[in-house]
Amino acid sequence: PLRTLKYKNDDEQPAIGLGTWKSGKGEVAKAVETALKSGYRHIDCAATYGNENEVGEAFEKVFTEGKIKREEVWITSKLWNDSHKKEDVIPALKQSLNDLKLDYLDLYLIHWPVAFKKGVGFPESDDEFYSLQEVPIIETWEAMVEAKKQGLVKHIGVSNFSKEKLEDLISKTNENPEALQVELHPYLHQNDLLEFCSKNGINVTAYSPLGSGDRSDAMKAEDEPSLLENPTIVKIAKKHGASAGQILINWAVQRGTAVIPKSTNEGRIKENLASSGYQLDEDDLAEIDKLDDHFRYVTGEFFVTEGNSYSNIYDE
Ligand code: A2P
Repeated sequence: PLRTLKYKNDDEQPAIGLGTWKSGKGEVAKAVETALKSGYRHIDCAATYGNENEVGEAFEKVFTEGKIKREEVWITSKLWNDSHKKEDVIPALKQSLNDLKLDYLDLYLIHWPVAFKKGVGFPESDDEFYSLQEVPIIETWEAMVEAKKQGLVKHIGVSNFSKEKLEDLISKTNENPEALQVELHPYLHQNDLLEFCSKNGINVTAYSPLGSGDRSDAMKAEDEPSLLENPTIVKIAKKHGASAGQILINWAVQRGTAVIPKSTNEGRIKENLASSGYQLDEDDLAEIDKLDDHFRYVTGEFFVTEGNSYSNIYDE
């Protein structure tokens, strides 16, 4: 049986989901269909990935065929940064629902703790941002709460929030975020953040678990380290007769997080779901602990410019 993360109302989010960031339009529908038919029951999406319409074609096809029901699948999407004003949140959510061809989401997340002006995908100048004073995060959050009240989404949460930003949000609302999605892998353990989430009943999903090697060159640091080729990971993989990817995914699951490896390759889609058939032992975990050097593949630095007030996305 698939491991799951439980929510307060007993809903369960399967621990291993399929990521769709960077999955091309011509391949993502096939990947989602393959995943669902191979046993995945969790698909991670976002408006900004630019492929929700194609993901939705797979949902429509599979759910119409009828062997897999909508209610059996956990589907997440995310609010883009240009729709943080209160009047923009529900329309943006409805656009995602329309593209995904769904009538509700299981989880909707504020994608980043930054607000852009309407229509801005990636800002090219300071004046394409709203400041935190112009669109405070609590304004966006209250609209998320309203979306949940309306039954458009079952659960709400945030992504790319630091512990400080979570604490700030929690201090301003009675409806705490139920979920957090952040980058997590053996180079970035974020134990403090995980402990904070555990104490506050926030379920955590790990993104870029395999190191996101298919990011565009523009997003990559010159000599960023490989996770899949890390000698410690490769050694542990050999020991368990698993692939490096499976070790990385299993590590995330053993820590109690959900994890969303992206693949559009049928063999790797299946391989990734079959990751958690064995336990990493104490020696493995101790070796992986040594790899933590707070390295991020997704630096968030594209949101930090002179004039806007997001001087430090991760509060580090
Ligand atoms: P592909 O889609 O061709 O399988 P992340 O989830 O960290 O963003 O990483 C996604 C990258 O890892 C993609 O380039 C994906 O390529 C690749 N990938 C996915 N699963 C595996 C695996 N089991 N082994 C090696 N590479 C993988």
